[in-house]
Amino acid sequence: MKSIVKVISLGVFLSMGVVANATADRERGEDLKWNETTRAGIAPVDNETYLQECGSCHFAYPPGFLPPQSWEKLMGSMHSHFGENVELSKSVRGTLYNYLLNNSAVRSNFEYSNKIMQGLGNNPAPLRITETHYFIRKHDELTPQMVAGNPEVVSFSNCAACHSKASEGSFKEDEVVIPGYGRYED
Ligand code: HEC
Ligand code: HEC
Repeated sequence: MKSIVKVISLGVFLSMGVVANATADRERGEDLKWNETTRAGIAPVDNETYLQECGSCHFAYPPGFLPPQSWEKLMGSMHSHFGENVELSKSVRGTLYNYLLNNSAVRSNFEYSNKIMQGLGNNPAPLRITETHYFIRKHDELTPQMVAGNPEVVSFSNCAACHSKASEGSFKEDEVVIPGYGRYED
């Protein structure tokens, strides 16, 4: 009798641990959907308004590269956007807001989106993709001469300078060509 009670309470104890872990994961935004439905890469941009309004100064970043709270912060501060004043009509703003939030990293079950979420850590709403742990880890072998000191790249924010198929939403390693350095070899 005694041993049955022990077995039951051990079972309860273990399952409480599992529940607590799952809750902690969700709170950290790590409720990842790693399963057979996870797709490779990232969802490509498919919104004309977004391409026009957010792709005129720089590459139109796929929304799946940032969590919803980042897009909210960005859209809430377009009057002082990295030194630029981006003016948007109310209706365009609404369209962009919906598109970005509905396709943010928590909404799209793609490999890079899941990895971005997994690596947010203590910076839950980064204003830049280039600030995320996942981005930094993937680009830490590049030298300053290849980026800041490279007149054809200048900034890591310039994704399409190196990712030859970025506009198709593809960031595979074997498609990287760094201007002046050629195809990237790991
Ligand atoms: C008037 C020009 C301009 C427009 C229009 C514009 N941006 Fe930007 N954006 C910038 C500049 C400048 C930077 C900083 C680039 C750098 O550091 O090299 C930037 C950077 C960003 C970054 C960070 C990139 C990174 O990871 O380093 C995001 C995200 C971004 N913009 C989103 C948007 C969105 C969303 C819109 C449309 C609502 C938009 N931008 C429209 C000028 C613009
Ligand atoms: C100076 C060139 C350069 C720029 C600019 C650049 N990248 Fe990269 N990126 C690379 C290289 C090189 C790799 C491969 C790194 C490796 O395998 O070690 C890479 C890898 C990646 C990967 C991982 C690919 C995979 O399947 O493992 C992603 C995702 C990515 N970059 C996204 C971006 C985004 C988004 C931007 C813009 C915000 C960007 N990159 C800007 C050079 C660049």
